[in-house]
Amino acid sequence: MTHAGNNFSKKKPRSPTANSSGSETSPPIHTPVLLDEAVHLLAPVDGGIYVDGTLGLGGHTEKILQSCTPSGRVIGFEWDDNALELATKRLTPFGRRYSAQHRSYSEIMDGLNEMGIHRVDGLLLDLGVSSLQFDNATRGFSFQADGPLDMRMDRRRHPSAEEIINNFSKDDLADIFYYFGEERQARRIASHIVAERGKERIKTTSHLAHIIAGAIPRKFHPRKIHVATKVFQALRIAVNKELDNLTTVLNFITEILKPGGRICIITFHSLEDRLVKWKFKDNPLLHVLTKKPVTPSNEEIKMNPRARSAKLRAAFMKG
Ligand SMILES: C[S@@+](CC[C@H](N)C(=O)[O-])C[C@H]1O[C@@H](n2cnc3c(N)ncnc32)[C@H](O)[C@@H]1O
Repeated sequence: MTHAGNNFSKKKPRSPTANSSGSETSPPIHTPVLLDEAVHLLAPVDGGIYVDGTLGLGGHTEKILQSCTPSGRVIGFEWDDNALELATKRLTPFGRRYSAQHRSYSEIMDGLNEMGIHRVDGLLLDLGVSSLQFDNATRGFSFQADGPLDMRMDRRRHPSAEEIINNFSKDDLADIFYYFGEERQARRIASHIVAERGKERIKTTSHLAHIIAGAIPRKFHPRKIHVATKVFQALRIAVNKELDNLTTVLNFITEILKPGGRICIITFHSLEDRLVKWKFKDNPLLHVLTKKPVTPSNEEIKMNPRARSAKLRAAFMKG
């Protein structure tokens, strides 16, 4: 399975062939993005305690655990129950060096406190959607396959995308599309949605994509991406409170890291990347390790097209 970023292109994702344990027959694995680069910058050492705030299918965690033998530990945070279960299965061979919590990484401080841990040697965030989520039509992340309008990574939470689309005011919808999707036609799309939902509840990804396509005059349809890309990105960010969660962790980062401890963040769109860049720069206790963001090689993008918008930034806590 490959990584799902946010710049959904018209290209179909590569069809993967192996599962998380590497066997050929089962569902495909998520290919971790910038794996070597992220783990190199995190620099795990024996005895260290690391947090993977976006465990996903455990690809980055596995490599961190391999790099801090024999006694380094990783604590994973993942709020998608399905991903958590698969990652935990995959990481069982690491025994007590791996543990995980079913909660948002924005609650890292509480999660660590409950374990009697106050500071850690490193934190990794690999933001965005995993392919496990994106490629499953029933999760409602993609307009490329019809499914229920859901988009919740944590299905215990509300509102879902359907609840936002059908209940939020026209102005609130337009703001979401404009601020989280940088969609210039935000107001026009919001008006069409409100008119359409007056006739019939909007419940599916294809229904929403159809309304968006109809709202934007043909001459304004983007050439390189699907016409619904930006609205879908915006909705996903709103449903999962992605920028709020990132802001929370960046505000508390110097209370989470030990002196010398490192933070590495992989982002998939400019809103997140800008936030990370400025929060790193503005924090006098952080020393930035990446003057410019690390991006995937052409070879990685060729193997995993969904990596193409990834940017990795890293910093360490001054001692
Ligand atoms: C891109 S995937 C991570 C893939 C992982 N690095 C791997 O190698 O398999 C992002 C994961 O982060 C999870 N996630 C996103 N926001 C989260 C949050 N606030 N708290 C916990 N997990 C989150 C998603 O559910 C998804 O499984």
